[in-house]
Amino acid sequence: MTHQHQPPQMSEEQRQARLRQIKGQWEQRRRITETLGRIKTKIGVYSGKGGVGKTTVAVNLAAYLAKQGFRVGLLDADIDCPNVAKVIGATEPAHVHEGRIEPAEAHGVSVVSMSFFQEKEDEAIIFRGPMIHNAINQFLQMTEWGDLDFLVVDLPPGTSDAPLTIMQTLTLDGFVIVTTPQSLAALDAKRSINMVRKLNVNVLGIVENMTGDMFGGGAGEQLAKDLGLAFLGQVAMRRDYRTDTKPSVLASKDVLKEYDHIWKGLQARLAEVDALPAVHKH
Ligand SMILES: Nc1ncnc2c1ncn2[C@@H]1O[C@H](COP(=O)(O)OP(=O)(O)O)[C@@H](O)[C@H]1O
Ligand SMILES: [Mg+2]
Repeated sequence: MTHQHQPPQMSEEQRQARLRQIKGQWEQRRRITETLGRIKTKIGVYSGKGGVGKTTVAVNLAAYLAKQGFRVGLLDADIDCPNVAKVIGATEPAHVHEGRIEPAEAHGVSVVSMSFFQEKEDEAIIFRGPMIHNAINQFLQMTEWGDLDFLVVDLPPGTSDAPLTIMQTLTLDGFVIVTTPQSLAALDAKRSINMVRKLNVNVLGIVENMTGDMFGGGAGEQLAKDLGLAFLGQVAMRRDYRTDTKPSVLASKDVLKEYDHIWKGLQARLAEVDALPAVHKH
């Protein structure tokens, strides 16, 4: 009879270390579940490539929802280019207090971004896969969001490891996909949508940003038609976006109208996937 290979025995010390590790992981998971359990709806804002206005849409959507009376958090998960704090015009950073991250407040939105924890604002952040996973986990574990109706998440663009990791870590209720009117951007958006669909996450709809004389219009709606998705609306290219003290949706009536339209479509889609919270007056 042949003897089966026996695994080497762990020393008592190793066993204790392993136990501590398991306990730590369990505690981490418990905290994340607890934190996420207090958030009713999590929406990711995503695009096929950078520069199409993903951060702009995430910030304006969050500010719009807060204006509607919802309790809103905004998580900057674009670890490489964390621009959310700047675009929303946060004047005070989030800070760490007794091991917990207290979000910054800007225009009624609770904001957490890697940029708050950078030494210098323009420092490039080069994270490898596992580090991105850790950074996001850290944010999810440590942030004191409290009770939220919506968490809007600004994701990294593209189909690389970074957005994938984040999609797997966060259990999102759905995505809003941002594209520009050019056909190339729409093609990139298509690739991203296919990836999201493979992960079985709901696509709530498509927003076409930067519509106007410069880039034209219509590619977003066409893409939605091609893929059988909801078209949520167009956001025009405007000078209003030059200001960085206030989200444009709070400064311009025309932008507000565009978001009223987007919100109508989004509400319908959220209701379809059973993720539409009731307004909480605060
Ligand atoms: N509708 C718009 N009109 C004018 N400028 C815009 C509009 N949307 C975005 N921008 C500008 O385009 C640039 C890229 O937008 P950003 O939101 O940072 O893109 P992303 O997050 O996809 O990389 C920013 O300077 C932003 O102010
Ligand atoms: Mg961005």
